[in-house]
Amino acid sequence: MEHQRDQPVTLLDVRDLQVEFHTRDGVAKAVNGVNYCVDPGETLAVLGESGSGKSVTAQAIMGILDSPPGRITGGEVLFRGEDLLTMGAETRRRIRGAKMSMVFQDALSALNPVMSVGAQLAEMFEVHEGMTRKDSRAKAVQLMDRVRIPAAKDRVGDYPHQFSGGMRQRIMIAMALALEPDLVIADEPTTALDVTVQAQVMDLLAELQREYNMGLILITHDLGVVADVADKIAVMYAGRIVETAPVHDLYAAPAHPYTRGLLDSIPRLDQKGRQLYAIKGLPPDLTAIPPGCPFSPRCPRAQDICRTDRPPLFAVSHGRASACHFWKETLDER
Ligand SMILES: Nc1ncnc2c1ncn2[C@@H]1O[C@H](COP(=O)(O)OP(=O)(O)OP(=O)(O)O)[C@@H](O)[C@H]1O
Ligand code: SF4
Ligand SMILES: [Mg+2]
Repeated sequence: MEHQRDQPVTLLDVRDLQVEFHTRDGVAKAVNGVNYCVDPGETLAVLGESGSGKSVTAQAIMGILDSPPGRITGGEVLFRGEDLLTMGAETRRRIRGAKMSMVFQDALSALNPVMSVGAQLAEMFEVHEGMTRKDSRAKAVQLMDRVRIPAAKDRVGDYPHQFSGGMRQRIMIAMALALEPDLVIADEPTTALDVTVQAQVMDLLAELQREYNMGLILITHDLGVVADVADKIAVMYAGRIVETAPVHDLYAAPAHPYTRGLLDSIPRLDQKGRQLYAIKGLPPDLTAIPPGCPFSPRCPRAQDICRTDRPPLFAVSHGRASACHFWKETLDER
């Protein structure tokens, strides 16, 4: 096997992932064949309206899907070439603890309210790395320093509610990065924060990601945030990837009408006073996704074929694909 050592294996390769929820109203098809991949040191931003399946995809990758009612009905989640969905529970738990971790939107509910933040951080090192209590406490302070909690040494015994929202989010980032994972999934990590604090926390996350050379999946509604930190973007709609592209290509010219709609609805400083565009209508009911292109009822470009034939992901260029019958026309429109 010696000769294979240098062969690059993608860090995370999600293939044709499918997730359903069995609800009283029927079967909600929340994830319908998602494909994306992340390399070490790379940031993939996942965008899309509320309910498009961003979080459910992340939960399926992490193995924390609410199940039941949720169920993975197809696909693969390859982590360094091995399928997380078929490996033994014990192996998977070990990978989840040390090699991949998650940052959530709401630190207050993700952290343990009755344990000091220092003890929560220290516990990670005790459990996963067998450190002594004293060493693990020292590591906890180091880590709090690293995420720039002022006076970390004095605050190591404080409880989560004693910190501001921004500081709590830094602590959650510290927890997620404590064991230097290969992959971090951050699900709306700054949504609950003030705008100025949002930028600081995002900068910190980006800085640590570079330092540790981690793969990062950044789930967000906010196209503004993405431009600065992501390498590539996957746009989701009704549980599918509708466009995936290197970040600059996508901003320069979207190849899917839904992406165009998202871009046109960002406020821009250079176009003050101009009426902000909003995509009309609502995403489909996931228990009854329409045939053809799921975006067709809302799409300004829809033709007859869109209502009958589901567009596959067409290759647009290297690293770029669009699930639109009229991707060429959309690209040329700019
Ligand atoms: N616990 C659950 N029980 C039933 N259905 C669920 C559950 N969690 C998610 N779903 C279904 O999956 C769909 C996708 O949810 P998901 O949380 O992935 O959306 P999202 O893209 O993360 O949205 P948001 O931007 O609001 O976080 C939901 O619209 C819902 O139909
Ligand atoms: S396939 Fe048709 S309906 Fe769907 S996004 Fe493209 S043009 Fe619009
Ligand atoms: Mg979500």
